[in-house]
Amino acid sequence: MYSKSIAVAAALASIQTASAAYYDSFTSSVNPLNVTLPSLPQTTSYDVATECTYYSPDPSLFSFTATQWPTIWQTATTNGMNTSTEFTTLYNSINWANAPNIAVRTFTAAGGISTVGYDTVNDPDCWWTATGCTVPKLANVNKDIFNCPEPETWGLSYDDGPNCSHNAFYDFLKQQGLKASMFYIGSNVMDWPYGAMRGVKDGHHIASHTWSHQYMTTLSNQELLAEFYYTQKAIKLATGLTPRFWRAPYGDVDDRVRWIASQLNLTCILWDDDTNDWEAGFSTPVQTVQNNYNSFIQMGTNGSMANTGNIILTHEINNTTMQLAVENLPSIIKSYKHVINVATCQNITYPYFEQTVAFPSFSQYVASNTSAGGSAANVTSTTSSVSSAASSVQMNTAVVVLMAALAALVVQ
Ligand SMILES: *[C@@H]1O[C@H](CO)[C@@H](O)[C@H](O)[C@H]1NC(C)=O
Ligand SMILES: *[C@@H]1O[C@H](CO)[C@@H](O)[C@H](O)[C@H]1NC(C)=O
Ligand SMILES: *[C@@H]1O[C@H](CO)[C@@H](O)[C@H](O)[C@H]1NC(C)=O
Ligand SMILES: *[C@@H]1O[C@H](CO)[C@@H](O)[C@H](O)[C@H]1NC(C)=O
Ligand SMILES: *[C@@H]1O[C@H](CO)[C@@H](O)[C@H](O)[C@H]1NC(C)=O
Ligand SMILES: *[C@@H]1O[C@H](CO)[C@@H](O)[C@H](O)[C@H]1NC(C)=O
Ligand SMILES: *[C@@H]1O[C@H](CO)[C@@H](O)[C@H](O)[C@H]1NC(C)=O
Ligand SMILES: *[C@@H]1O[C@H](CO)[C@@H](O)[C@H](O)[C@H]1NC(C)=O
Ligand SMILES: *[C@@H]1O[C@H](CO)[C@@H](O)[C@H](O)[C@H]1NC(C)=O
Ligand SMILES: *[C@@H]1O[C@H](CO)[C@@H](O)[C@H](O)[C@H]1NC(C)=O
Ligand SMILES: [Zn+2]
Repeated sequence: MYSKSIAVAAALASIQTASAAYYDSFTSSVNPLNVTLPSLPQTTSYDVATECTYYSPDPSLFSFTATQWPTIWQTATTNGMNTSTEFTTLYNSINWANAPNIAVRTFTAAGGISTVGYDTVNDPDCWWTATGCTVPKLANVNKDIFNCPEPETWGLSYDDGPNCSHNAFYDFLKQQGLKASMFYIGSNVMDWPYGAMRGVKDGHHIASHTWSHQYMTTLSNQELLAEFYYTQKAIKLATGLTPRFWRAPYGDVDDRVRWIASQLNLTCILWDDDTNDWEAGFSTPVQTVQNNYNSFIQMGTNGSMANTGNIILTHEINNTTMQLAVENLPSIIKSYKHVINVATCQNITYPYFEQTVAFPSFSQYVASNTSAGGSAANVTSTTSSVSSAASSVQMNTAVVVLMAALAALVVQ
């Protein structure tokens, strides 16, 4: 009897352990396997002003209490979030004694990041902005992903969405059968939740791009944790999914930032080729960005990609960047064998903590291409869904153990 009680207690403890993850308290009314977008001019129009007219989301799909969230487009500790119960509980659950003792970086007078005094030769903090480092020096942090390993593979990624004016762009991707990795800004998700739902509905791989898009190495530990945490919560609220991957704005990541991301089980996805499209028409002529595209496209056929693929940095910012994507994708598809998202090129079946949505592995994706002489992009396998609900295998095991222990007690 005594030992059976212990078994029950152990099973209960096991359930508590299984449900202790930080994202378990997140809520969402959206079923990512059956996203139905309300039919509004904002979700269908191609007119930028119409698309970007603010709407009140259907409360049965997306609603939130502003006092429980950071201020949109400000550091995620704002609006009292650094003292909220949920954030304090999370903060205190982390063993900060293990955090690396790495300096918070500062800005130059010109507004860039100052690397003055940093040892760029030894690069002790694996600071990408200073050295391009992508292999952490610190043990026990998740290692960055920065390319697609398969030959002649273009890793398709778009940052800074969901942008209100993306309808023509997403329709184009859909028509071409392309699934991209989309790095969403938490503040944009809160402003344009239907845009995030559309990303999931279309089978794109959604990842985090922080709450307010700042140079992460310049933020305190507390601010970093909040930038990650509230973006996870926002993406879950709008899509029903919590990402396991994130991308550093400006690539500004070091081992302190990686360590905090790893506390939330987040892994950084960077890139190895940059189109610099974000500055097209601003500090760089559009033609210069087009030349960058041309080089990367040429690399697909001139032998440069014979042994490896890439991940290309491009943006969902506005008509300039999205139109560049639309104009170049047909040539990209012609010159590369595979144009795919990072989850598929890295065999990441579950890019979200929920195991409701699964992605094909690279070989599953290739096997699904049955078209004779057709374009790979038009037969990309769709995001397959698994039948099991959000509950984890771990939880089910614990429940089985508990029921077995209870049954044993009853028999006694
Ligand atoms: C999907 O959602 C729509 C609208 O919410 C609903 O009518 C439909 O029954 C759902 N389909 C499935 C397969 O759950
Ligand atoms: C919360 O952040 C504010 C500024 O954003 C700061 O003044 C305050 O000290 C912080 N509180 C805690 C508990 O860290
Ligand atoms: C893919 O199919 C669409 C029609 O569904 C077609 O318009 C488009 O040109 C095709 N793309 C390629 C690269 O063949
Ligand atoms: C999160 O990471 C910790 C430490 O690496 C690990 O023990 C835990 O199982 C992970 N949780 C999930 C849900 O992946
Ligand atoms: C898009 O943003 C860039 C950078 O701010 C800007 O230079 C460009 O003019 C914008 N394009 C449009 C169509 O607004
Ligand atoms: C392939 O094209 C790229 C971009 O134009 C160029 O940098 C590279 O040198 C070329 N490689 C070969 C083997 O021609
Ligand atoms: C989204 O696109 C619109 C229209 O091009 C642009 O005005 C706006 O600045 C963009 N918003 C963000 C947050 O990038
Ligand atoms: C960019 O703007 C032009 C002119 O309004 C429009 O025809 C085009 O579809 C837009 N492109 C995208 C990708 O939104
Ligand atoms: C993906 O899986 C294939 C087939 O098992 C394997 O050859 C390839 O190395 C894997 N790629 C990665 C990044 O693990
Ligand atoms: C799909 O098949 C076509 C034609 O056989 C081939 O050119 C393309 O590389 C294949 N794509 C994939 C992903 O295997
Ligand atoms: Zn960005």
